[in-house]
Amino acid sequence: MVGTDWMRQGARGAGAEPVDLRTDRPHSARMYDYWLGGKTNFDPDRALGEMFERQIPGIRSMARENRRFLGRAVRYLAAEGGIRQFLDIGTGIPTEGNTHEVAQAVAPESRVVYVDNDPIVLAHARALMADGEHGRTAYIDADLRDPGAILAHPELTGTLDLSQPVGLTLVAVLMLIADRDDPWGLVRQLLDALAPGSYIAVSHPGSDFDPAAMRQIADAAGHDGMTLVPRTQEEVARFFGDWELVDPGVVPVMGWRPDGEPPADPAAAYYWSGVARKP
Ligand SMILES: C[S@@+](CC[C@H](N)C(=O)[O-])C[C@H]1O[C@@H](n2cnc3c(N)ncnc32)[C@H](O)[C@@H]1O
Repeated sequence: MVGTDWMRQGARGAGAEPVDLRTDRPHSARMYDYWLGGKTNFDPDRALGEMFERQIPGIRSMARENRRFLGRAVRYLAAEGGIRQFLDIGTGIPTEGNTHEVAQAVAPESRVVYVDNDPIVLAHARALMADGEHGRTAYIDADLRDPGAILAHPELTGTLDLSQPVGLTLVAVLMLIADRDDPWGLVRQLLDALAPGSYIAVSHPGSDFDPAAMRQIADAAGHDGMTLVPRTQEEVARFFGDWELVDPGVVPVMGWRPDGEPPADPAAAYYWSGVARKP
């Protein structure tokens, strides 16, 4: 079983032009979908996904834990941070608990702009466009490596008011940006554009949980033409710049404000995570 009918017939882009999904190569969004038990993945995605799993046997539950962090962080921003507008960059293929669903469950008037550069996510974007009576959801086909284009995009400026606080989520996406593209500088450009009272939530695979296995998967990804850069806790902490980290700081993803009982071993999922507020 590969994908759905529209994928076999050919996906369409924003202007309904045919899009080459490059299903002959593995892609991060589809590998993540595979680990989460979705159907939007192809043989090369599954092959590399399984290779990763041989190195890191818990990788599927780690992906689920990352996704849970996204839900907890967005709920925190909406419920405790009072955030009503969200910018979710590196959206992924829609699945359970998408940002607008979590935010609008707390505050129905929440507005969400999704950004991704993957044609498969673009083809799914309609599923993300859920305008409620008060809330609004938009999707931008753009690249995190060009923050200026994201910030100036008419869909963004028509949906979000950048003079008011925004919740920026960069969840499991920064590892796909190489050091040579200066991911810290890119994030800084986004942070500088946001109003005081804004928040950023980040999760990122950590190179310091199982360094040998992380090196193996990063190398394997590189052989398949995919950038994957696990980073240390200190490198991840630098993404927050001088914003105030929310308690408990930059911690393993399962240990960030868990629902219910704290996990016995928070470091069982190899992602760093944190949330910070612009003073
Ligand atoms: C692993 S998924 C994470 C999905 C979601 N944020 C989550 O954590 O559940 C990473 C997503 O980032 C997207 N992505 C990768 N590089 C990107 C870039 N340079 N600009 C925008 N999106 C990018 C991929 O297409 C993919 O959908």
